[in-house]
Amino acid sequence: MRIGTLGAGTVAQAIARHALAHGHEVVLSNGRGPASLAGLVGALGPLARAGTPRQAAAAELVVLAVGWPQIPEATAGLPPFDGRVVIDTTNQFASPPPHARIADLGELTGSEYVASLLPGARVVKAFNTLYGQYIAANPRHEAGRQVLFLAGDDADAKATVGDLTAAFGFAPVDLGSLREGGRLMQLGGPLSGLHALKQD
Ligand SMILES: NC(=O)c1ccc[n+]([C@@H]2O[C@H](COP(=O)([O-])OP(=O)(O)OC[C@H]3O[C@@H](n4cnc5c(N)ncnc54)[C@H](OP(=O)(O)O)[C@@H]3O)[C@@H](O)[C@H]2O)c1
Repeated sequence: MRIGTLGAGTVAQAIARHALAHGHEVVLSNGRGPASLAGLVGALGPLARAGTPRQAAAAELVVLAVGWPQIPEATAGLPPFDGRVVIDTTNQFASPPPHARIADLGELTGSEYVASLLPGARVVKAFNTLYGQYIAANPRHEAGRQVLFLAGDDADAKATVGDLTAAFGFAPVDLGSLREGGRLMQLGGPLSGLHALKQD
């Protein structure tokens, strides 16, 4: 599969490493342009390349991994999604820690907001509940597999993300819709920051 990342920081790199290790191609993009990613993609190996956000967003599966305030800019002017899957890894920090402020969207969950900016995309919320170290680590811990919560409004899209991440070694757990599951997963929800392992 070809996977594109919007963002090339902690989260995008961690997911890219899992994908590359499993034989997928990854196109990484950031806000400063492909040239700024030359060193990174060189280190990631021949299946990785740098692109513009438009090129990354044309991939079969797209990972959104930018800071909350950057979402409108990162999602503007992308090619039509036509049902392609977008994994939303973001957390709605309107301002970052240590003086963190959580964006107030009223009834809307963070991923519903993200989906509203990506018409035609099938959005699956995932990875946002985990600290970066647990996204990057081998998900097969001695005590069990890293639980990876998923939420989304499209069952097939969730199955795609579930199959992909299970192959990486995670234990995906479907929590339902972007509204119900997303609320459990987002900042302030009971699963935010939860490091849970599933014994096999
Ligand atoms: N770090 C964690 O532990 C963690 C865990 C779970 C979820 N999250 C969430 O995941 C998201 C990403 O976090 P992170 O830690 O990976 O952030 P990060 O390391 O700061 O990386 C953010 C990336 O977004 C890129 N970016 C900025 N504006 C962009 C644009 N307009 N188009 C494309 N890319 C753009 C940045 O590129 P430039 O350098 O060029 O600006 C950078 O590569 C955040 O919403 C965060 O809350 C983080």
